[in-house]
Amino acid sequence: MDKLAIIGGRELYGDIPISGAKNSALKIMVAALLTDEPLALKNVPELADVAMLKKLLAQHGVQLSGQDNQLTLHTKNITSTIAPYDLVRKMRASFNVLGPLLAREGNAKVSLPGGCAIGSRPVDLHLKALTAMGAQIDLEDGYVIASTPNGLTGASISFPFVSVGATEHTMMAACLAKGQTVLKNAAREPEIIDLAQCLIKMGAKIDGAGTSTITIDGVDRLNGTTHQILPDRIETGAYAMLVGATGGELRLRDTDITLLGAAQGSMEEAGLIITPHDDGFSVRREGERCRAVNIVTEPYPGFPTDLQASFMAMMVTAEGTSTIKETIFENRYMHAPELSRMGAKISVDGQNATVTGVSRLKGAPVMATDLRASMSLVMAGLGAEGQTMINRVYHLYRGFERLEQKLSNCGALIKRVSE
Ligand code: EPZ
Repeated sequence: MDKLAIIGGRELYGDIPISGAKNSALKIMVAALLTDEPLALKNVPELADVAMLKKLLAQHGVQLSGQDNQLTLHTKNITSTIAPYDLVRKMRASFNVLGPLLAREGNAKVSLPGGCAIGSRPVDLHLKALTAMGAQIDLEDGYVIASTPNGLTGASISFPFVSVGATEHTMMAACLAKGQTVLKNAAREPEIIDLAQCLIKMGAKIDGAGTSTITIDGVDRLNGTTHQILPDRIETGAYAMLVGATGGELRLRDTDITLLGAAQGSMEEAGLIITPHDDGFSVRREGERCRAVNIVTEPYPGFPTDLQASFMAMMVTAEGTSTIKETIFENRYMHAPELSRMGAKISVDGQNATVTGVSRLKGAPVMATDLRASMSLVMAGLGAEGQTMINRVYHLYRGFERLEQKLSNCGALIKRVSE
């Protein structure tokens, strides 16, 4: 298994181009199942998760072509409505093929996504929404077996809490349902807006994406289109926070600071100076160390759970004590014991973590446990004195495109080593 070797303690200076958003690309790729015409996507990041979804879509009959971050998906015919365990269990976004398969073919058999390192992550909201739209759903041997004898019908669906995946999944299915669907307490993430904009270009009638009420009027068919995936706000935020850990100045290109929601304010409070430009922004640290800031993770536009680990990596060397409350996932502090191996002072109690800043971390061997936790270890390693060796680094390539290259270009000493 590959490792990442990092020699820390250098300030970073340079430009980092931000890739297309993983969590938008994955959902928009699934939307290709809704039309028999080609869907041409630009700015698709080359990531392990994207490669895995391509495999799943190919076995449903999607023809895939393209290179250099361009990808065309063409689903002339759906050749299989079964999404097997092996392809769904590795990545939860795969589960979202259920609604589109059902909407287009009237039946689907999709494996449950299974457990996940950051928590149990059920799919009950997805299934309740599809049931409200007339789907008959049975669970058998770890599979969801769904059919719509009379097609999907529009419904009024009020989510008991905000779910990104359930909002996107239901919005896609509703595009081809009969009549109107209203989603209340919908997620408002920029990726929801990106998916809605693509679906609208495909002929869908969607109103209100980006607010907590989305209205979808079903149409008989969707057409192909061309769509550019929006910039990855989590990659953007992680590289901006990296400056808090290392010092220096980075210019993040092909992105937009306004995508960061509440995270921008927290970064500025911590002492990062952000200067917007036409194609992104620059970021530098005000003093020798960041200031301690308290955060609570929340659905967008609140502080994103996907940046919680990165923020902690910045807080471990901040001046003072900060508290972090993780409200979205129940087990998302796996980076804390690894950061402690490098000298961080963190105590975790259920949803809450308390971080007392130390002046410097020391490099150590650590273990990456999930995608975002892995990035926090890279950040900590780059800020630390001496060598950090990160094990199980494959998690990183699920979500950060050309990571070593982007960082090396800014003066980081980081190398992937194969065993
Ligand atoms: C998306 O996951 C993202 N993944 C996650 O990013 C992100 O952390 C999360 O949204 C929150 O922003 C993708 O877009 C592929 P949810 P999703 O449904 O849709 C519970 C990353 O690192 N829930 O908003 O799965 C759930 O367990 C990943 O890129 C139910 O109980 O998140 C969680 O506690 C990790 N029942 C909460 O809701 C359901 O049916 C929010 O989850 C659905 C969700």
